[in-house]
Amino acid sequence: MLTPLQQVRRTLTRNAERLDRLQTQMPGGAAERLALYRANPARLMSDAGMNPDPWQAALLASTEPRVLMLCARQVGKSSAVSILALKTALTQPGSTTTLVAPVEEQATELLRKVVTAYTAIGRPVPVLRESATRLELANGSRVLALPGKERRMRSYTSALLVIDEAARVPDDVVNAASPTMAVSKGRFVALSTAFAKSGWFFKEWTEGENYLRLSVTARDCPRIPAEFLASERRKLGERWFAMEYLNVFGDDVAAVFAGDDIRAAVSGDVRPLFGG
Ligand SMILES: Nc1ncnc2c1ncn2[C@@H]1O[C@H](COP(=O)(O)OP(=O)(O)OP(=O)(O)O)[C@@H](O)[C@H]1O
Ligand SMILES: [Mg+2]
Repeated sequence: MLTPLQQVRRTLTRNAERLDRLQTQMPGGAAERLALYRANPARLMSDAGMNPDPWQAALLASTEPRVLMLCARQVGKSSAVSILALKTALTQPGSTTTLVAPVEEQATELLRKVVTAYTAIGRPVPVLRESATRLELANGSRVLALPGKERRMRSYTSALLVIDEAARVPDDVVNAASPTMAVSKGRFVALSTAFAKSGWFFKEWTEGENYLRLSVTARDCPRIPAEFLASERRKLGERWFAMEYLNVFGDDVAAVFAGDDIRAAVSGDVRPLFGG
């Protein structure tokens, strides 16, 4: 009769043996490819059909446990992070990667990028289960897409926790999600376009310690033409354009007026336009 501890040990040993077996049974050349991706993660992105921009390559090569990315619209932040998720699933057998976004469609869209990239590289590890919200591989790894709801964050242990559109994910979701990395000592990667000057992402970006910070504006992206930015600027106005494309945090969106306007309105130095 085995003690509970011996039972756990036996299960862990069997799982480890199973994973080793699966690794060696992979289709021809797959083991070498995984070793290549582990050593050179940018190669995973180029094999998936996208040559990484320098900052995307830097993200993929980084091993920092905590990363904040402040990026303009459409520069490729979700694409880069989807490759990071795939790299984790492939090179850390048995790992769970959790993809969180404000609403389910955004989380599943990110997972779709992971699956598309995985298909593009020829699926070197067999897929056990695939749905709109999860990808499970035969090496024991899985990638899960979760909507930004506090109660959905419980009961996972994450090797990699990704928070997309982070400035729009409520504080209680991040607070509930962070402990999922406590045991695994996993990585935390939050990516966002600038938004209001409030909430945890703004606070961590401006005051947080021990983060790798990556900042990419639309002007840094070779795929966004200057003429498109000029027309967006006209269409959106300065303040919204600066948030969307230049990484400038706006004033709290609940406020109708910009902070400067409000300060001017309450300042005794400002002469009233009418009366007085
Ligand atoms: N290195 C790259 N090479 C070629 N195309 C790329 C690269 N990175 C991203 N793209 C393409 O750019 C487009 C935008 O990418 P993505 O959705 O990852 O950007 P995003 O910053 O997450 O955008 P959003 O702000 O709308 O969420 C996609 O069509 C994607 O395939
Ligand atoms: Mg995105």
